[in-house]
Amino acid sequence: MLRLAVFVSGRGSNLRSIQKAIRERRLTAEIVAVISNSDGAPALAFAESEGIPVFSLEGTPVQEHARAILDFTRANGADFIALAGYMKLIPAEVVAAFRHRMVNIHPALLPDFGGKGMYGRRVHEAVIASGAAVSGATVHLVDEEYDRGPIVLQRSVPVEEDDTPETLAARVLEVEHDIYPEALQLFAERRIDIIDNRIIIRS
Ligand code: GRF
Repeated sequence: MLRLAVFVSGRGSNLRSIQKAIRERRLTAEIVAVISNSDGAPALAFAESEGIPVFSLEGTPVQEHARAILDFTRANGADFIALAGYMKLIPAEVVAAFRHRMVNIHPALLPDFGGKGMYGRRVHEAVIASGAAVSGATVHLVDEEYDRGPIVLQRSVPVEEDDTPETLAARVLEVEHDIYPEALQLFAERRIDIIDNRIIIRS
């Protein structure tokens, strides 16, 4: 059983897919907190409508973000963090407090097409421009750098000849909604070992 804090910045479709998986008992977890960097994130409104405790960092000075995040996650008993479209770098103190207990989802096959500035439409533009035949989604552990932690789960989708960033993003988003709950369930079942910075999935 994971007690999840989900971090969001925008639309919140991954937050919804996680909540749905919990309802359908594909994921043994409870979302105990949702944190956003902006008050206006639709994801935050969804969380409120679900009765989940929410917190927005908007208006909190940046040097106080780590403390505010740790206070809110602790107050709600969160033991695992899932970043779901969260657009800010996580403060180092939070990474340290949740080491090996924090994951992110990225809309491409890391370690390619990731890193600072690689988010949203830009990712899919870069994939198409590269001529890659496949793209996909990656769930990875979070460390101090953007998109660099050990990979937990990946799933690929084809890149079609007539793809636009929007059509590719939509195809990738479908697999995101599958693999994020699946990856979280591996942690819930304690099937993840981390050896030499690599993930070993126990069967
Ligand atoms: C997803 O594409 C995710 O991979 C990326 O940000 C997007 C968030 O979408 N990190 P949503 O807010 O979950 O709908």
